[in-house]
Amino acid sequence: MIKIANGAYTYGTQTGFHDVNINVNRGDAVCIMGPNGSGKSTLLKTIVGLFSLENGKYTFNDQTIDKKFLKDSTKTGPFYQKFGFVFQNSDIQLFNTSVTDEIAFGPQHLGLPQHEIDQRVNDCLKLLKIERLRDRVPYHLSGGEQKLVAIASVLAMNPDIVILDEPFNGLSPKYRALITQIVNQLHHAGKTIIISSHHFNQIRSLVDRVYVFSEDHTITREITADQLEEMPRFIDYLDNL
Ligand SMILES: Nc1ncnc2c1ncn2[C@@H]1O[C@H](COP(=O)(O)OP(=O)(O)O)[C@@H](O)[C@H]1O
Ligand SMILES: [Mg+2]
Repeated sequence: MIKIANGAYTYGTQTGFHDVNINVNRGDAVCIMGPNGSGKSTLLKTIVGLFSLENGKYTFNDQTIDKKFLKDSTKTGPFYQKFGFVFQNSDIQLFNTSVTDEIAFGPQHLGLPQHEIDQRVNDCLKLLKIERLRDRVPYHLSGGEQKLVAIASVLAMNPDIVILDEPFNGLSPKYRALITQIVNQLHHAGKTIIISSHHFNQIRSLVDRVYVFSEDHTITREITADQLEEMPRFIDYLDNL
């Protein structure tokens, strides 16, 4: 479904990533690992169409995703709707004055009828176990609460592919466990999951496969979670990136 061949992206003169090959199929759960600054966020933003490749080729279900495609608003709508992107910093993602409005914002933009919007808001509040927060101001919430609201607002759009950029960063064990449980639930419900992380142990129970970036901004390993379980020293390395 998501295929990047020899992909490269640079910010002016700064390399984001280069010579990257990935292939994610429907229903996969994969993790992008690598040290800080190695290219994880840049790759995720490219997958969802925020950036277009400068070299190489990105195809989504055999459609080439390039500058020309991304400029054509008649085509990008259905493409963008496939993805739910949970940004690393929830505070830049949340801008409404109540949690309910935050979750309703996406479905309202899809032009759904009010009863359907209300249904989605209630379903997402329940799934994320945040009914108690419904009238709170997102900006005033704790980091963990904000992350749950950000995930709820993304899921309200019912995306096929859920992308989470370092979702566990800065969260307490309680919130990490909650988010792990929710991501597992989404995967079992058939969603495709792409997570970035630099702690293997945090994503160990979540993903089937791991892509590993080196400091040189390219993916140097692709390895299944089962293979990794036989490689304690590599797990140690991945846990201390
Ligand atoms: N907006 C930007 N402008 C210039 N360079 C950037 C920008 N964002 C990221 N970079 C650079 O691109 C490289 C990859 O960054 P990033 O994808 O954010 O890494 P990661 O998510 O793995 O920490 C880094 O060298 C980083 O400094
Ligand atoms: Mg990042």
